[in-house]
Amino acid sequence: MKADLVIKLGGSAITQKDTPYAPKLDVIDRIAEEFAHSWKGVRVLLVHGGGSFGHRAAMKYIDGSGRLKDPRGIAETRHAMHRLTSLLAESFLGKGVPFFAVDPSACFFEESDMEPRLGYSLKPVELALSAGLLPSLGGDVVLSSQGHGRILSGDTIARILALASSAGLLAFGTDVDGYLEDGKPLRRIDRGKLKEIIASTKARANDVTGGMAGKLGEVGEYLSSGGNRALIFNATRPGAIASLLRGEEVEGTYID
Ligand code: IPE
Repeated sequence: MKADLVIKLGGSAITQKDTPYAPKLDVIDRIAEEFAHSWKGVRVLLVHGGGSFGHRAAMKYIDGSGRLKDPRGIAETRHAMHRLTSLLAESFLGKGVPFFAVDPSACFFEESDMEPRLGYSLKPVELALSAGLLPSLGGDVVLSSQGHGRILSGDTIARILALASSAGLLAFGTDVDGYLEDGKPLRRIDRGKLKEIIASTKARANDVTGGMAGKLGEVGEYLSSGGNRALIFNATRPGAIASLLRGEEVEGTYID
């Protein structure tokens, strides 16, 4: 599988993270519009976060080790993500973009309880891409052979997809202008500096997958596994997605 670009739409960009089940429909529609104009001919894999949908549902049931043991909690979290995915699908399809949702809970799974290891098959994503669709995967709850669920962040999915498709760029869209230091986005982070920066970045309270700290951790893993270049940018800024699709540089923090 070969993709030009993996774009993750963070939950903070497409939902109001502090209000339960509140999508930012204006942002979603604008992003869909930008895809409609600039997507043709670009091999893109789209990923989205959970925001006030997935996180809200998962927080009620998740235990200290990140597991969801209650079947109802697993199912509710899955459904919360479906709801958000449906809103995206309606918006993209309404603008003529063949958004094709691939359920991560059907292609990712946890292999062992002793030493949890993520197994997956990306064939459905590859087939969707070659069928001319826009494959889209949301953060999800994945099942383990031990009978529990675990949250799989869209950031992790994006990292895995970017590596598997040798993408030129792994772009994380958030609601801020990049990695902020003293309120200002850094233009570039050298991969050698990343560990230091991760250590000084704290996780957010209403986020079961670690917010900016989790994202930087995924970027670190991506680059040390042979990844090309990563970006943290503001997906709520009009024109940012269109520029990315056209292969242009955007405002944000590039990490390489
Ligand atoms: C979380 O995905 C998915 C669930 C909680 C089910 P992400 O970790 O990618 O979500 P955001 O982008 O931080 O909201």
